[in-house]
Amino acid sequence: MTSSVTPERIMQLGLAFWGSKTLLSAVELGVFTELAAGPLDAVTLGDRLGLHPRSARDFFDTLVSLRMLERDAEGRYSNTPETDTFLDRSKPSYTGGMLEMANARLYHFWGSLTEALRTGRPQNEVKSGGNFFEALYADPDRLEGFLSAMTGLSLGAARAIAQKFPWGDYKTFVDVGGAQGGLPVEVALAHPHLAGGSFDLPSVEPVFNNYVARHGLSDRLRFYPGDFFKDPLPPSDVLVMGHILHDWDLEEKRVLLRRAYDALPQGGALIVYEALIDDERRENTFGLLMSLNMLIETPGGFDYTGADCQSWMKEIGFRETRVEHLVGPDSMVVGIK
Ligand SMILES: C[S@@+](CC[C@H](N)C(=O)[O-])C[C@H]1O[C@@H](n2cnc3c(N)ncnc32)[C@H](O)[C@@H]1O
Repeated sequence: MTSSVTPERIMQLGLAFWGSKTLLSAVELGVFTELAAGPLDAVTLGDRLGLHPRSARDFFDTLVSLRMLERDAEGRYSNTPETDTFLDRSKPSYTGGMLEMANARLYHFWGSLTEALRTGRPQNEVKSGGNFFEALYADPDRLEGFLSAMTGLSLGAARAIAQKFPWGDYKTFVDVGGAQGGLPVEVALAHPHLAGGSFDLPSVEPVFNNYVARHGLSDRLRFYPGDFFKDPLPPSDVLVMGHILHDWDLEEKRVLLRRAYDALPQGGALIVYEALIDDERRENTFGLLMSLNMLIETPGGFDYTGADCQSWMKEIGFRETRVEHLVGPDSMVVGIK
């Protein structure tokens, strides 16, 4: 063993869940929402959050060292610009829904990763069988929590798609499995000439309508209720599928792509976006972990590379396809009919 080889990276990664769970508990407790009104000392903040005196100081200082909080010379804690923008529940820019879901569901289910690796079976609400979305949506709080988690997960990609895709060439668009409506809202806000909406399971409708109304877009965005395996997709110039294909096995992925192709007019476009795995399957750790998350969450889902998706699109008949990076781990595949 040479002296330049140390176990540091291994230990950091192995214990990374300590830091992760500290942030998730901070979101659960509302640390960042509380501090959005102004800086507080450890005792006052701890009291407001209902923390035991033994835990408060270490908890807040850990968040300082993780760059999630700041502490001034008088010992008062405040949000960083990032946590103030994205983790204060009272701001429209709040994207903590994904972290709330990670805390309430995924943290626990990932504890059974080894079992999932051995059995290939999901480890969540459908561990003993059933349909993931039916099981998840049976509880209204879980339904809302999941749909808002999707907005948190997809907001960066949605804004990048609003900027990078040539929307000027099209008039209508539908986000297939659009959840709360995060992407349709971003696209409609950026392009006043567009009209469209979201096609999703009927139980999603009130959550979508509420989100769209909050953004003042009810006259341009509407909800199309349906099941994308049974009902025809609404005809429109552009269809979008974000984090849809990765929920399903290969045969189901092909069916969904075919259904999108059939619904598009000649010259229409399908945008598929995900944390696409890099073609060499070495670099996009988030995309690869997302695929393991599909192992935990679904019976047959998996993430895939841009090259995989382009080849499925070409088999179906899309005449042009291209992959474009969006932001962070996310990329889109565009198929033109
Ligand atoms: C993983 S979420 C992705 C949400 C959103 N596109 C995004 O990327 O943030 C999958 C979405 O597909 C919807 N969905 C699942 N099964 C469906 C079905 N059979 N028909 C229509 N929508 C479905 C879910 O309700 C959910 O909104």
